[in-house]
Amino acid sequence: MSQNSEELQKRLKEAKLGGGEKRIKAQHEKKKLTARERVDYLLDEGSFEEIGILVTHRTTDFGMEKQKYYGDGVITGYGTISGRLVYVFAQDFTVFGGSLSETHAEKICKVMDLAVKTGAPMIGLNDSGGARIQEGVKSLGGYADIFHRNVKASGVIPQISAIMGPCAGGAVYSPAMTDFTLMVQDTSYMFVTGPNVVKTVTNEEVTAEELGGASTHATKSGVTHRTAINDITCLEDIKKLISYFPQNNKQAPEILDYKIQDEFREELESIVPASSSKPYDMHEVISGIIDKDSFYEIHKDYADNIIVGFARLGGRSVGIVANQPMNLAGVLDVDSSKKAARFTRFCDCFNIPLLVLVDVPGFLPGTDQEWNGIILNGAKLLYALSEATVPKVTVITRKAYGGAYDVMNSKHIGADLNFAWPTAEIAVMGPKGASEIIFRKEIKESEDPEAKLAEKEAEYAGKFANPFEAAQRGFIDEVIQPRQTRRKLLKGFSMLENKKVLRPDRKHGNIPL
Ligand code: HXC
Repeated sequence: MSQNSEELQKRLKEAKLGGGEKRIKAQHEKKKLTARERVDYLLDEGSFEEIGILVTHRTTDFGMEKQKYYGDGVITGYGTISGRLVYVFAQDFTVFGGSLSETHAEKICKVMDLAVKTGAPMIGLNDSGGARIQEGVKSLGGYADIFHRNVKASGVIPQISAIMGPCAGGAVYSPAMTDFTLMVQDTSYMFVTGPNVVKTVTNEEVTAEELGGASTHATKSGVTHRTAINDITCLEDIKKLISYFPQNNKQAPEILDYKIQDEFREELESIVPASSSKPYDMHEVISGIIDKDSFYEIHKDYADNIIVGFARLGGRSVGIVANQPMNLAGVLDVDSSKKAARFTRFCDCFNIPLLVLVDVPGFLPGTDQEWNGIILNGAKLLYALSEATVPKVTVITRKAYGGAYDVMNSKHIGADLNFAWPTAEIAVMGPKGASEIIFRKEIKESEDPEAKLAEKEAEYAGKFANPFEAAQRGFIDEVIQPRQTRRKLLKGFSMLENKKVLRPDRKHGNIPL
């Protein structure tokens, strides 16, 4: 073996040890995998090709020239997941706490550039103390180089971030600009300023977990899309997630083999209760329609008055946006509008058809909603669904009231196929509210106002609490029995497969952010 070959073997061996056995042990004691173990678990066995394993930092300040680790705290490269090419970086907490130096950033940028050039998903496994403190502005510049690439890659290739340790300061903005952020319970957190700064500035006492742990971001802020109980389930989540996506915005998602069977789903007939004010679980409708066990929910614990997620219909990947009558009667509010708008835009970027299931009593009234911008936030969903050019199909299961009827993928904003179940009620508002307004005088002057109200409610319901007026006008293409829904959707999405829409010649629209 030549001297250089021996030297190479020595360096590679050192590189594989990261920050050393003691720090690896400390990582395991925190119930975290090392960066290398994560990459190995994520990718198909033997598929990983590392890029830049021998890179070291260039800092000489603070005695740093004597502390160099091959790879400089991040493992970068490419490999496959179920045979599909993906690029990956995994920050190595055993090396300077996974902190980001100039060279660490350069390594990440290099794989991001390759991912865009070759049109393949980019996956970032984050576990870092943030900017390498010894490097000052060089590190900040490195972050900005990554942010800029996140934006340029947005809508071109799917970008996924897993937070598997600390993620603080400006470092949070790279995951925030990717398409999906996943977090691991108990071992990860994200915040712009940590508990110490919070205490100094606001005198508020809060733990890192409360401030930016996985459950906080899954329920309160919506920053994280999925929470995993440990590193392994998080990596499994990533693999499953990308199975619904195409490689890039020029491709369509893969259609899995599908054998036609049991297209009529009788169980759908009994889900919507007879009383229109009774809740039911829209998840039952979803599973009654889709391929068995194919639903992958996003943002499950955030704004749960709307459901979003990926599923398969006859092997085809679809994005589902569905009101959830179980929570807040499925009303649209600030958070649910933002959640659904963001999801819609992802699907539209990556050619994933949209199925919208509607049971919505309207927008949530109140000062809280108005002062928090329900106007602008509701407009986000309206804008996103109007703008989307992928195949768009709607099924109204029950209520479609007021402005929310328009917003929830109505024919008027460009839906391709609009179905309604016989239980659908399509009106400006519910019969009670409507009667109280338009028959106020008559009810007030009646000898028995309660009986009059009931009579007027019934009259209004008879006219509007059904899908027929909308169907007569062509706003609904077909009123279908629930059991037929799956079959209609399979045929509809297949018919829409080659949908093409010419977009206006403009730089970009101005979605109300
Ligand atoms: C250099 C760092 C580092 C950093 C940690 N280390 N963070 N080295 N730069 N930012 C080193 C530690 O010195 C230590 O080295 C090793 O990593 C592990 O750190 P510990 O503190 O022992 O680990 P732990 O107790 O688990 O605490 C993790 C931590 C803490 C919470 C992340 O290390 C921490 O608070 N670090 C500083 C975080 C921070 O303020 N970063 C800057 C944020 S501002 P040894 O040799 O002892 O093992 C920022 C701006 C970005 O990031 C702006 C972008 C626009």
